[in-house]
Amino acid sequence: MTTTAAPRRVAVIGGGQSCEHDVSLASAAAVAAALDPDLFIAIRLTIGLDGRWHLGSVPLGATPAASLAGAVTVLAECDVAFPAVHGPVGEDGTLAALCRLAGIPWVGSDLRAGALAMDKVTTKLVAESHGIATAPGTLVTASTASSARWDGPVVVKPVAAGSSHGVSLVTAADDLAPAIDSALALDDRVLVEQLVEGREVDVAVLERVDGSRLVGPALEIVSPEGSVFDLDSKYDGSADFRLPAALDDVQRKELAHAALTMFDALGCAGVARFDFFVTPMGVVLNEVNTMPGMTAESQVPRMFAAAGTSYRDLLSELVLGAAQTVR
Ligand SMILES: Nc1ncnc2c1ncn2[C@@H]1O[C@H](COP(=O)(O)OP(=O)(O)O)[C@@H](O)[C@H]1O
Ligand SMILES: [Mg+2]
Repeated sequence: MTTTAAPRRVAVIGGGQSCEHDVSLASAAAVAAALDPDLFIAIRLTIGLDGRWHLGSVPLGATPAASLAGAVTVLAECDVAFPAVHGPVGEDGTLAALCRLAGIPWVGSDLRAGALAMDKVTTKLVAESHGIATAPGTLVTASTASSARWDGPVVVKPVAAGSSHGVSLVTAADDLAPAIDSALALDDRVLVEQLVEGREVDVAVLERVDGSRLVGPALEIVSPEGSVFDLDSKYDGSADFRLPAALDDVQRKELAHAALTMFDALGCAGVARFDFFVTPMGVVLNEVNTMPGMTAESQVPRMFAAAGTSYRDLLSELVLGAAQTVR
C-alpha cells in the first residue's frame, strides 16, 4: 500500500488488567513493530496490571486515574488508537468507549459489540436468536454453585475471560465443584457447558478499507485426544493448526455465513474471530473474539496471510479503515 499523505500517529495500546495481560503485551509489541513505517508512527501505550497507563515504559501517573489523564493527552495527539488489549477491561468495550468519548478513531469494534461478545452468555443469546447453534449451558454463580449437578462431561468456564484461563474439561463428577471454583476465581458468572464433540474450526472476518468484508480461510485447531485447546498449547507453539482447514463446500459456506451473521448481529468492526465446532449435526459457535490475538503467529494474521494479505497489509487495512470511520 502506498500513499503520499503524512504518516499517521497510531497509539498502540497493550497490556491491561485481565488475565490476558501478557498475551496483550505480545500483540501490541508485534503490531507496533509491524506497522508500515511509510504510513504510520507507532506510539506505545501500556496498561499495567494495576491499571496504571505507561507511555513506553514511563508511568503516566501514580494512580490509574492520574495516569489515565496522561494517556488521554497522548491519545489526543494521535490520529488513531489500536487497542490490542484482550479480555475484560479492554476487549469488552472499555477501550472503545474511552476512544469514543475522546473522539479518537480506533481499530475494532465498538462498546456494544465488545461487551456482547466478551460475555459468553449474551453471545449465545445473539447466536441462537439468529439460528446459529451453541452448546447448551447452565449459568452458575457463587450462590448457586453448590446446586450444580453432574450430568455428563462438561466444559466449565468463566463467562468473560480468555486464553482458556479458568477453563476446565470435566469428565468425572468429583471434578465439577473444583472446576467451578477455579472459574469463579476469574468471574462471578460461570458457564457449565455440554461438551461438544467436534472439530475446532475458527473463521475471521475483516472489514476492508473499501467497506467490503473478507472471510479468511478457516483454521482448524487439533488438540490431543481428551483435552481442550488450553493456555499452554495456545502459546507454547505446540498447537497443531491446519490452514486451510479441510472442509467441504457445505461446511465452508455454513461457517462463513454464521461468522458474517454474527459480525453483523453483534455490530462488529475491523476484524473479529469466530470460533466454532464443526460437528456431524452442523456448526456450533463456541465464542467470538472482537480483539483476537494479533502477533504475526496468531491465528487471524496467519489466516489472512494464507489468503494473500500480509500481516503488515492487514494492519494497514485496520488502521486506515478506522481512520476513515466516523462513529
Ligand atoms: N462446550 C465445549 N465443548 C468442547 N470443548 C470446549 C467447549 N467450550 C470450550 N471448549 C474448549 O476450551 C477451549 C477454551 O474455551 P473458550 O470458550 O474458547 O474460552 P477462551 O475465551 O478462554 O478461549 C476451546 O478452545 C475449546 O478447545
Ligand atoms: Mg477461545
